[in-house]
Amino acid sequence: MNTPKRYTITAALPYTNGPIHIGHLAGVYVPADIYARYLRLTGKDVAYICGSDEHGVAIPMRAKKEGVSPQDIIDKYHTIIKKSFADFGISFDNYSRTSSKIHHETASDFFTKMYNDGEFVEEVTAQLYDAEANQFLADRFVIGTCPKCGFEESYGDQCENCGTSHNATDLINPKSAITGNVPTVKETKHWFLPLDKHEDFLRKWILEGHKNDWKPNVYGQVKSWVEDGLRPRAVTRDLDWGIPVPVEGAEGKVLYVWFDAPIGYISSTKEWAAREGKNWEDYWKKDDTKLVHFIGKDNIVFHCIIFPSMLKAHGDYILPDNVPANEFLNLEGNKLSTSKNWAVWLHEYLEDFPNQQDVLRYTLTANAPESKDNDFTWKDFQTKNNSELVAIFGNFINRVVVLTNKYYTGQVPLAGNFSEVDEDVLAAVKEFPNVIGKSIERYRFREASQELMNLARLGNKYLADEEPWKVIKLDEERVKTIMYVALQITAALAVVSEPFLPFTSTKLKGILNLDENLSWEDVTEKDVLLPAEHQINKGELLFSKIEDKTIDAQLEKLQATKLANEQENKVVEPQKETVEFDDFTKLDIRIGTILEAEKVAKTKKLLKLKVDVGIDTRTIVSGIAESFAPKDIIGQQVSVLVNLAPRKIRGVESQGMILMTDTPDGKLAFVEPEKAVKNGQAVS
Ligand code: 2FM
Ligand code: ZN
Repeated sequence: MNTPKRYTITAALPYTNGPIHIGHLAGVYVPADIYARYLRLTGKDVAYICGSDEHGVAIPMRAKKEGVSPQDIIDKYHTIIKKSFADFGISFDNYSRTSSKIHHETASDFFTKMYNDGEFVEEVTAQLYDAEANQFLADRFVIGTCPKCGFEESYGDQCENCGTSHNATDLINPKSAITGNVPTVKETKHWFLPLDKHEDFLRKWILEGHKNDWKPNVYGQVKSWVEDGLRPRAVTRDLDWGIPVPVEGAEGKVLYVWFDAPIGYISSTKEWAAREGKNWEDYWKKDDTKLVHFIGKDNIVFHCIIFPSMLKAHGDYILPDNVPANEFLNLEGNKLSTSKNWAVWLHEYLEDFPNQQDVLRYTLTANAPESKDNDFTWKDFQTKNNSELVAIFGNFINRVVVLTNKYYTGQVPLAGNFSEVDEDVLAAVKEFPNVIGKSIERYRFREASQELMNLARLGNKYLADEEPWKVIKLDEERVKTIMYVALQITAALAVVSEPFLPFTSTKLKGILNLDENLSWEDVTEKDVLLPAEHQINKGELLFSKIEDKTIDAQLEKLQATKLANEQENKVVEPQKETVEFDDFTKLDIRIGTILEAEKVAKTKKLLKLKVDVGIDTRTIVSGIAESFAPKDIIGQQVSVLVNLAPRKIRGVESQGMILMTDTPDGKLAFVEPEKAVKNGQAVS
């Protein structure tokens, strides 16, 4: 398109059925944020729009699980998610929610206009039904085998494995996610969006029009769907959670979540425009507006086929100029999963790494899953921090700030004549905004972040080559020029790092006492960013080294999650053979207290215990040394089988057995009374 006059940037509305994790950040919100911040720095008119996706089946399902109402769920997670975004500097111009009045009205009106224009097909069809739950099954309420790839746990509307979007009735061997029952079928009326009617338009618009500028992963998916042939899709559901279908005879029916959610971008824009005194229609209806949707790959069909068909059918709206969808991020080799708690949750990250948002932003950008799925590992996170942010970026800034304070009490020195190297370096610095900007405009954020680091590398190399700390003894005038040049690089870094490292950029501008309004172009166009005699402040560390033990703690946390999941999936051992009651009463189990504990020499697992079991105090050898340190269990009450025949273990006679159970993290736990009881108390 010609030079746009304004930009509408949308980031996928997250479902409010759980907090957000690094996968969300890497896939959608950080790249969109870099894009929006960059455009603002270049003086563009930007509306960066998002909000919570609060309808759909995922919400009532989560509510059921937590034993609360759907409203409780959306309120809880909307608050948590909104805060996480703010904490990570995601600079939305508006963050709304689809439960808001303005959204209900906007989505209702959108549907009504299409309905009145005859854009839907109304049909009574047989839909899957769970008689026990008294409910129709669609979307996440039904699980079955994907007709396309054979994945056995595909949802009713979309397969998480291959991304195909389908109708629930297409599933092979469907099962109700509520009761596990095989569904029956029942007739119900719904409104369908006839995608087949929009096929020609989609072919022309995307397959012919965006062959070269859309990412191959996005273009390829769309092409394969269109070429497979598009079919009508129901845009209403038999559910009691969502936006009521605004036509007569649709009682008890709501809009399909994927019909209303993208309209959420429009209602969020309206909310923002009303607040800011702008005209929302400029951002959605004018041809000189560039609309860009940032999403994850599982959302491609909805943003490239269904929503554009809706916009087109409704009329008046512009279509997205690009949909730079990312692939998925994995964590330590496994798929991120909310239900399996296999994630780095943003709110937890900040507890463990306070004020280190930029480290995560940088790592996720440098390793973004732009063209293929990628893996987040804690080791890589540590390397990106220690070897790039600390050793290159932070180190350069620190050296310049310290030397400027040391040699010139913080005043930018007056430069003498520039050497050829100085001239080359200053010219190279001016090129960086163009290079980085080009990468950002092509949605290549990894590449852009590496160019940012290259600017810091240039500064480091310049200092290492010019060695002002040595030259100062021989030629003070030359050092003034060197430091002047180095200071211009720090200022350039402060400006161009802002989209990627917003917290660091603010800190750095504070240290340099730099004009906050410097723009992206200023770095290229201005000859001087920090003039002679400008006073800078004392330095503070921008990044600090992350030690191995910090990384090990994160890996242990994940290991514990893995064990807990294994434990949860562990098959419960089958029941042993039946025993007669008389046999059971022969077992004499008493509560006792551990008085002494020590390791049995040359063993890993055994502790020798002295236990007061009420009857007497006796020695018991127990295989619990890997779970407990001797000093920690003195005074612990335990259950003891006291009439087990004594036996010698490693030369020590054991006069009984302590009863134990396993914990989810693979350790042992005592079977103990809830409150302290008298030693010798029987367990029966
Ligand atoms: O996949 C998801 O998390 C959806 N909630 C994204 C919705 S994007 C948009 F259309 F609102
Ligand atoms: Zn599939």
